[in-house]
Amino acid sequence: MFASRPDRRTHHARAVVTGAGSGIGRAFAVELARRGGSVICADIDADRAKETVALIEAEGAGRAHAVFCDVSRTEDIDALADLAEDHFGAPTTLMINNAGVGIGGRPVGEIGLEDWQWALGINLWGMVYGSERFLPQLRRAGRAGLINVASTAAFSAAPSMAAYNVGKAGVLALSETIAAESGGTGLAVTVLCPTFVKTNVAVDGRIAGGASALAQTVMKWTGVSPERVARTTLDAHDRERLYVVPQPDARMIWAAKRHLPRTYTAGLGLLNRALPALDRLSGATPEPQPTRTGV
Ligand SMILES: NC(=O)c1ccc[n+]([C@@H]2O[C@H](COP(=O)([O-])OP(=O)(O)OC[C@H]3O[C@@H](n4cnc5c(N)ncnc54)[C@H](O)[C@@H]3O)[C@@H](O)[C@H]2O)c1
Repeated sequence: MFASRPDRRTHHARAVVTGAGSGIGRAFAVELARRGGSVICADIDADRAKETVALIEAEGAGRAHAVFCDVSRTEDIDALADLAEDHFGAPTTLMINNAGVGIGGRPVGEIGLEDWQWALGINLWGMVYGSERFLPQLRRAGRAGLINVASTAAFSAAPSMAAYNVGKAGVLALSETIAAESGGTGLAVTVLCPTFVKTNVAVDGRIAGGASALAQTVMKWTGVSPERVARTTLDAHDRERLYVVPQPDARMIWAAKRHLPRTYTAGLGLLNRALPALDRLSGATPEPQPTRTGV
C-alpha cells in the first residue's frame, strides 16, 4: 500500500470522479481510494459505478460510494454537488471531470446535428457543468484540485473526428482559463491529454463501423493501461502540473502542431487520403460492425 502523504492533494482526498464506472475514471477512483481517499463514483451506468465501488471495497483501501449521474444534465450535476458535500460533511477537495464518449468516422457535413449535440453535451457541456458547479465548493475547501480529462484530440485535428476534437479543445481552453483564474489560490488545475488508452471508449461510442474497428486495433497495439495514466496524472497533479501529455506520440503531435502547423495539417490531409487504401490492402478493417449504441 501507499505511504500516507497528507500534504498532497490526491492523498486523503474527498473526491468526485465522473464516468467512474469504466476505464480511466475507474482507475482514478481505485487509485484515489488506495491513497486513502473517500471517493464518489458517478456514472450514467449505475451498475458499472457499483462495480467500481465493489473493487475498492474488496481492496479494503479507502471508502467509495456509487451515484447515478448523467453529466450532460445540469440537474444531475447540481444533485451530485449537493450529495457530495452532504456525504463528505465538508466541501469536495478533488473533482475529476472524466466522463466522455467517443464519436468519429465521418467528415464534417456528414456527422449530423443530433450526433454533434450528443457528443458536445457530454464531452464539453458535462465538463463545463462539472467545473461551474464544483468550483465554489473547491474554493471553499481552500486547498483543492480540479482534473479535467481532455485528449490529444484537443490539438491534433484528426480528420473524421471533428465532434470529438471540438469538445476536447473546449475542455483544454476551459482548464487553461480556470488555471489562470486560480493563480495564487489553493486550487490546482490539471488537464489530461492522452492518445490511446485501453478502455471501452471506442466500443461504446458512436464511431462509424470501419473507424471503430481501426480505433480498436490501434488502441490494442499502442494503448497504455488506464491504471498507468491515472497514477501519472495524479502524481503530476500533486506537483501542480497544468498539462499532462502522458505518451510520447501525444508529445510529438503537440510539438509538430505548434512548431510546424501548416506542414502538420498538410501531412494529416495526405494521411487521411492514404489511410483507407492502406487499410483495405492490409485487410485490417472488417465489415462495419454495429457499436453498443447501434451506430
Ligand atoms: N481511451 C482513450 O483512448 C482516451 C483517449 C483520450 C481521452 N479519453 C477520455 O477519457 C475519458 C474517459 O474515457 P475512457 O477511455 O475511460 O472510456 P470508457 O468508455 O471506458 O469510460 C467512460 C465512462 O463514462 C461513462 N459515461 C458516458 N456517458 C456519460 C454521461 N453522460 N454521464 C456520466 N457518465 C457517462 C460511461 O458509462 C463509462 O463508464 C473520456 O473523457 C475520454 O474522452 C480517452
